[in-house]
Amino acid sequence: MFSELSIKDLRIIRDVRLTLSPGINLVAGPNGAGKTSIIEALYLLSVGRSFRYRDTAPLIRKGAEATELFSRFEDPSGNCHALGIRRERKQLVVRLDGCSSVRRSEVLRLLPVQFIGPDSQQLVQGSPEFRRQLIDTGLFHVEPEYLSLMQRYSRALQQRNAALRQGGGLAFQWDQVLVETGTVIDTIRRVYIERLIAGTEARLTNWLLDFSVSFHYRSGWRIGMSLQESLDAHREIDKRQGYTGVGPHRVDFIIDTEIGRGGKILSRGQLKMLVAALMIAQAQIYRGRVGRAPVLLFDDLPAELDRSNRDKLVTELDSVYPQIVVTSLEGEGLGILDEARMFHVEQGELS
Ligand SMILES: Nc1ncnc2c1ncn2[C@@H]1O[C@H](COP(=O)(O)OP(=O)(O)OP(=O)(O)O)[C@@H](O)[C@H]1O
Ligand SMILES: [Mg+2]
Repeated sequence: MFSELSIKDLRIIRDVRLTLSPGINLVAGPNGAGKTSIIEALYLLSVGRSFRYRDTAPLIRKGAEATELFSRFEDPSGNCHALGIRRERKQLVVRLDGCSSVRRSEVLRLLPVQFIGPDSQQLVQGSPEFRRQLIDTGLFHVEPEYLSLMQRYSRALQQRNAALRQGGGLAFQWDQVLVETGTVIDTIRRVYIERLIAGTEARLTNWLLDFSVSFHYRSGWRIGMSLQESLDAHREIDKRQGYTGVGPHRVDFIIDTEIGRGGKILSRGQLKMLVAALMIAQAQIYRGRVGRAPVLLFDDLPAELDRSNRDKLVTELDSVYPQIVVTSLEGEGLGILDEARMFHVEQGELS
């Protein structure tokens, strides 16, 4: 949970300092004022990169050499830390509690955040990559052995693919590692996704929305076959294609509505409520394990939501998350959100 935040030379922002509170913090201001940039700063501190695009050059304010961020924050166990980031065009320097040899995974564990923004509907509409990332980040936080399993699996997969591209001879010696790690990864994911889906469905039911969805887990290989059998059956195709076409790296969960694939049917507001329900379900699994939900960064929360849905959503978020940072074009007339701590930004400055 963030307390102090200082931002130097991030996009339009030259130098801003603010103190965030537990509960809901609302950042309001006109288009281009720097609202998303404030959320981006918090995300950068936790994740080390932006949610906008991979390219870092546009982050740094025009004319400046580097973006500098600093924050004091409380980890999920209640211990306080100081975290600084200096993002230059070519390198990123991170200092945590005065120490510069910090692993990203360490910061992620101490400062977990979730982000919902205008592109988050990709979770429902987009390629499986988006859902894979949701599963992987979720499990990173709640299953201690997941990260090393994934690393072992990914290394073996890379070696297998490299061998396939060179003709295939040595490719299949990696199958044993793939099967050993992949089967455990699949078991862990099934349990996790079942809980994620149950949590999401419970939210949607509570909110009495006018649509319903169903979810289907796809392990990444043929239904009714073991991973080993599926890899064996796919050998010739893999050799032809030069990569491994089946396995847990192809995991997905499909979201359907009564009349078709969710992404193609739901309205923008319905999609937004669905994405929020998924994120809340994930946060609750995390809270069950760690004791406290992550910080939620929600860009442009009020957009596309009617008053009733907005109030339902905000009430729910407030009961789950210890801290939420929300942006909005308007600073008032937002129902329950009007009670939030307010920051007004204009042209990159707090006013
Ligand atoms: N590298 C940069 N240097 C200077 N200004 C930049 C840079 N990158 C982006 N900007 C400007 O910073 C602002 C970006 O602000 P941001 O996206 O945070 O706005 P916002 O308040 O979220 O607006 P909206 O309501 O439209 O979402 C824009 O005015 C943009 O033109
Ligand atoms: Mg914005």
